[in-house]
Amino acid sequence: MSFVIWENARLATMQGGQSDTYGLIDDGAVVIQDESLVWVGPRAQLPANFRITATAHDAKKALMTPGLIDCHTHLVYAGDRAHEFELRLNGASYEEIARAGGGIKSTVQATRLASEAQLWVSSEKRLKNLMAEGVTTLEIKSGYGLSLAHEAKCLRVARQLAQHHPVQIRNTFLGAHAVPPEFEDNADGYIDAVVSMIEPLKAQGLVDAVDVFCERIGFTCEQTEKVFKEAQRWGLPVKLHAEQLSDSQGALLAAQYGALSCDHLEWLSEEGVAAMAASGTVAVLLPGAFYFLRETKLPPIESLRRHRVPMAISTDSNPGSSPCTSILLMLNMACTLMRLTPQEALAGVTSVAAQALGLKDRGTLQAGQRADLVLWDIENPAELAYAFGSNPRVATVWGGRVQLPQTIENSQSK
Ligand code: NIG
Ligand code: FE
Repeated sequence: MSFVIWENARLATMQGGQSDTYGLIDDGAVVIQDESLVWVGPRAQLPANFRITATAHDAKKALMTPGLIDCHTHLVYAGDRAHEFELRLNGASYEEIARAGGGIKSTVQATRLASEAQLWVSSEKRLKNLMAEGVTTLEIKSGYGLSLAHEAKCLRVARQLAQHHPVQIRNTFLGAHAVPPEFEDNADGYIDAVVSMIEPLKAQGLVDAVDVFCERIGFTCEQTEKVFKEAQRWGLPVKLHAEQLSDSQGALLAAQYGALSCDHLEWLSEEGVAAMAASGTVAVLLPGAFYFLRETKLPPIESLRRHRVPMAISTDSNPGSSPCTSILLMLNMACTLMRLTPQEALAGVTSVAAQALGLKDRGTLQAGQRADLVLWDIENPAELAYAFGSNPRVATVWGGRVQLPQTIENSQSK
């Protein structure tokens, strides 16, 4: 049996979830076997038997966190919407642009015209940006294809990205993102089409969860429920874009279906918070979209805290409301704009983000978890949220293997 030891690190284990103080262990060590952590603790307590057949790495006092998890992205799409950004700066609102046929629909048009190879190139750039900041797991939603063939195309690109990079990607089918032109004025007809896509996409191994954009410019609760029922029939967990621009009561419905997460939530009601607490649904907060759309109504953070609803943080990386590929910037914005503590924010991209994806094998530094780790050239984990615009990552370890850019020097084999 051979082990890999990382020692001389300050560990932010994140074992205590959102309420503890990072689960810090000074002068810590972790032991890896194959892809998993088998021991985590203070170096002084490291059992001697691990050293017999181990390769030891000196972390040189780096801070070690779990690999970061971006639990809500729309990473695969073609084109950009810089022009709409200009329109908004000239007075148009996000909703007005969407109603006039721009918004999601304009990205759908570009994405339908793009080949799989073209989508790969643009999406890979965004993926690399996320990975450069320590992301080891992410979710990618479809929703810019809006037909079986084009949704499958985007989901295949997501699967291929995962095959060729040291990350795990969860695919979420978001067919109910907007009504495509061929179903103009027939949202119900399109929802029937979305329902019919679930089985073939699942059969092709392309989907891990199902999401809906429940909103006055998206779909009603009734339409959402049809999609949820079909997802449930195929054993797929559900998630919801809920209460972003209005209180559409989506969270109540999602909670009834045991949703993994409800995302955005600026207009979430007290009743919605209570329902999410009861169903164990994670609140995914998206400070990039809040910032970029210049929202003024904050998600009900105090109420979420009071009801102990876990809060995840994510980029929502997409061309319309959050053209952002920096998870570290989201940590900062979660604190400055939404008043989360740096500890809550870091839990929001580690342990809580794992929960939002239904993944139990990652998100903390703990024996039995995957050996996905990031080493940072900082002392205090709050610095990750504090120093916006910088990237102190030294190295990422994914499934036990060190990823460049910089391998810590002076590793020694025993
Ligand atoms: O999460 N709200 C719906 N979907 C995306 C925006 C998509 C777009 O504008 O292209 C979001 O904000
Ligand atoms: Fe989104």
